[in-house]
Amino acid sequence: MKQPAALPLLSADVGQTEDGPPWVIEFRKVPHWLVTGATQSGKSSLLAALVRSLSSQPVALVGIDCKGGMELGLFGRRFSKLAIDRKRAIVVLASMVEEIEHRMRVCRAAGARSIWELPEGRRPTPIVVIVDELAELYLNDGSRESREEAEQCATLLLRLAQLGAALGVHLVAAGQRVGSDLGPRVTALRAQLGGRIAHRAHDEASAEMTLGDLNPDAVVIAQTISEEEQGVAVVTTGGRWTRARSHMISTADVAEISAIPGPPYPFLSVLDTAPEKGETVT
Ligand SMILES: Nc1ncnc2c1ncn2[C@@H]1O[C@H](COP(=O)(O)OP(=O)(O)O)[C@@H](O)[C@H]1O
Ligand SMILES: [Mg+2]
Repeated sequence: MKQPAALPLLSADVGQTEDGPPWVIEFRKVPHWLVTGATQSGKSSLLAALVRSLSSQPVALVGIDCKGGMELGLFGRRFSKLAIDRKRAIVVLASMVEEIEHRMRVCRAAGARSIWELPEGRRPTPIVVIVDELAELYLNDGSRESREEAEQCATLLLRLAQLGAALGVHLVAAGQRVGSDLGPRVTALRAQLGGRIAHRAHDEASAEMTLGDLNPDAVVIAQTISEEEQGVAVVTTGGRWTRARSHMISTADVAEISAIPGPPYPFLSVLDTAPEKGETVT
């Protein structure tokens, strides 16, 4: 598999910027990312480019793809865990929050403010949680069950984003639009996702929802992406914006990635750390 030059841990070469340099997503600098765009604008392809770049690194990938795992399911064993419906997504998200809380206790006991301050041998594996089709997690058909599931997803996603950064648990969420109409606490979640990637949007309001709070200029630029420019996106973390295009990942690459086993799951059991007094680690 042709891979771009080796990059530092948690840096992923996902494409090419229009100014020339590679498009690199650096999770150590910006821990969580939001990816938006109309159907067929290139969201899932970008996620594939991200998976390819991270696949050769000691990083665990956890996937949530509630349209039956059609996209992330292609990567097979490289994902340590993949939820393909909402009930399973809740279980996976809850276990991620549990993992984060465990890591907090480990850091506290060691007097560390993040996992990066722990000695290398005791540092837990970084995890990137990738959600495709975000809206599936917030679907609400009016029934009590569906409302409760949407609530649970909203709470867990927000908690993951609020607490995960220092503990090496990162979130990338992709969807068509991310307004308050999507579901509970979506704008609070968006505020935690400091990196924004907007592909061609259905309308100005959608581009505004992705970029408007961080960089109003980028909203205007996002509108210039045409239907033919699949894979092109405007990227910003609030300061400058850049136009970039993701790498296309071949079927052969996907097959190769899917054969690389990811770190084991659940993560709690593989942490090389002694529990605190009175604490039981399951
Ligand atoms: N970077 C790219 N360069 C060229 N074509 C692309 C690129 N990204 C996506 N495409 C094309 O656009 C199609 C739709 O992309 P996809 O990622 O499935 O969109 P979405 O997930 O937003 O619906 C792909 O099948 C591919 O043909
Ligand atoms: Mg898609």
